[in-house]
Amino acid sequence: MVSLDVKLGALSLENPTMLASGILAENAGMIRLAALSGAGAVVTKSIGILPREGYPNPTLVDLGFGYINAMGLPNPGIDEFEKELEDAFPSRVPIVGSIYGTNPDEFAFLGTRMEAMGVAALELNLSCPHAKGYGMELGIDADAVYSIVRKVKNSVNIPVFTKLTPNTDRITDIAKTVERAGGDGVVAINTLKAMVISIDFKRPILANLYGGLSGKAIKPIGIRCVYELYENIHIPIIGVGGIENWKDAVEYIMAGATAIQIGSAVGKKGLNVFRQIINGLRRYMKREGYTTISEITGVAHEFS
Ligand SMILES: Cc1cc2nc3c(=O)[nH]c(=O)nc-3n(C[C@H](O)[C@H](O)[C@H](O)COP(=O)(O)O)c2cc1C
Repeated sequence: MVSLDVKLGALSLENPTMLASGILAENAGMIRLAALSGAGAVVTKSIGILPREGYPNPTLVDLGFGYINAMGLPNPGIDEFEKELEDAFPSRVPIVGSIYGTNPDEFAFLGTRMEAMGVAALELNLSCPHAKGYGMELGIDADAVYSIVRKVKNSVNIPVFTKLTPNTDRITDIAKTVERAGGDGVVAINTLKAMVISIDFKRPILANLYGGLSGKAIKPIGIRCVYELYENIHIPIIGVGGIENWKDAVEYIMAGATAIQIGSAVGKKGLNVFRQIINGLRRYMKREGYTTISEITGVAHEFS
């Protein structure tokens, strides 16, 4: 009998798929819809203390092999979001609250508010590559990462995951820092800082000039990061980056992921992608004689 359920520390999911942050889950209706899609959990858009408009258009370019986006963390702020989230409960699946801030106090404040609203876990956005003073700018500084994770862990009683940036040669050191600070898991990876230029207009296409590359193009980088992390840390790893089908999901799990998130592929294939991945995963496990996801997690390391 095949079982797809996984445990991320104290958080149990009925299958290993999660909706990635920033994709759809900005309001109650979308969160509810995503929760009905078959996903094992839904991560909200990253929320800050105050509302943010984000950058002017264009903010998203489809390259065919991936997207480049520089949304600029648009969000309604925690007060408005609280009203949205109220309407999203009760949810069929756990909702993970993604938060961003500039220092440990802001993260702790947002984490406490999210916990009070009923989210099952937190995801700390220490990895957005295109918002000044936020995300990756903190996420490449081990001291900042330590203080933020520590402070949030001391402020809440729900699991705290930290989303890592691949825009550093120190992703392993940062993940070890998260583990030392008491973090419950890491999410790898956020987008890669990237750029696209229009040869007709002779200028960068994105209003913000730089953005984050996601989708198919970044899968081998995500796989490499998860593989490296698995060799170096003992807390769960959530793999994300370019997962479009069940084979991509299995690859991430074999690299060492306990669960996986799907972002850009939802834009291409709609929320159906969750059921397609779950069904494919179940068929593959049956065929290969696996009964639990944990039997697959990290198997690629046995041949290293
Ligand atoms: C349009 C868009 C908006 C995003 N917004 C966020 C966000 O608010 N917070 C965050 O942590 N990641 C955000 N991400 C990154 C995704 O959650 C994910 O890490 C990344 O896209 C790689 O996964 P994918 O290749 O499946 O899209 C965003 C990605 C896209 C494409």
